[in-house]
Amino acid sequence: MNDDDELLQAVVAMVRRARHVVVFTGAGVSAESGIATFRDALTGLWERFDVAELASAEGFAADPGLVWGWYEWRRMSVMRALPNAAHRAIAALASRVPKLTLVTQNVDDLHERAGSERALHLHGSLFAPRCFDCGRPASLPSDVPDEPDGGRRIAPPRCDSCGGPVRPGVVWFGEMLPEGVLQQAFDAARSCDVLVSIGTSSLVFPTAQIPVDAHRAGAKVIQINPNATDLDAIADFNLRGTAAMMVPALVRAAHRCT
Ligand code: OAD
Repeated sequence: MNDDDELLQAVVAMVRRARHVVVFTGAGVSAESGIATFRDALTGLWERFDVAELASAEGFAADPGLVWGWYEWRRMSVMRALPNAAHRAIAALASRVPKLTLVTQNVDDLHERAGSERALHLHGSLFAPRCFDCGRPASLPSDVPDEPDGGRRIAPPRCDSCGGPVRPGVVWFGEMLPEGVLQQAFDAARSCDVLVSIGTSSLVFPTAQIPVDAHRAGAKVIQINPNATDLDAIADFNLRGTAAMMVPALVRAAHRCT
């Protein structure tokens, strides 16, 4: 058995003993579905724009078509993508441990489409737009182009109730995270035995605090990421590899042992 196998076996043993597992995901879990990670999405056609122009209330107020066009481009990319082996393995793990709480920073719906019954979406969803002025939920436009051009302005639809512009239902820079969802995520982190962090740069707070709180409360923290992150220092195990490679291997091994 080489070092990697030993590491995986130790992680598997921990997952098998756990009564409550928190799976905490970031953009990296969707990378192998072809969805650009948050920072990568700002490259290519969009690189001439600042993140504050594309992901803030001020940016939307200044240029609604630019911001709506960017989010429609992202929504179309997600709709054309399929969940990958990591999303599916996370859904399968839920039926193999007594309790699993899935917490995600992602605004896509790939966890749900892979079969996860419930994900706590800390940063909202591309599929839940609302009115920028009155906050009422809005429906998504049905006339979206099949192949939206990246970098193109699209005028946002108008709210049925007040006529205000419709905005994406995601959390922008400078905005509060949904309080109830955030509280549930922290409660789960502070009471779990094992937290598995998958594909997040662990840079954006308050979400980056979730694995730290789990660690402080005595949970074992496992990280799956091909690259080093700030979480390396406190993670009990750092599995260096991609999500679609490492997560199914972990779940398969945990299943074989039962
Ligand atoms: P980032 O784009 O910051 O980081 C993506 C992470 O995924 C990096 O650590 C990569 O090393 C890792 N990664 C890349 N490919 C991977 C793969 N195939 N398997 C596993 N990991 C891989 O994305 P997040 O950490 O999710 O917030 O970003 C967190 C938040 O920052 C976003 O939700 C967004 C942004 O500010 C808001 O929009 C509020």
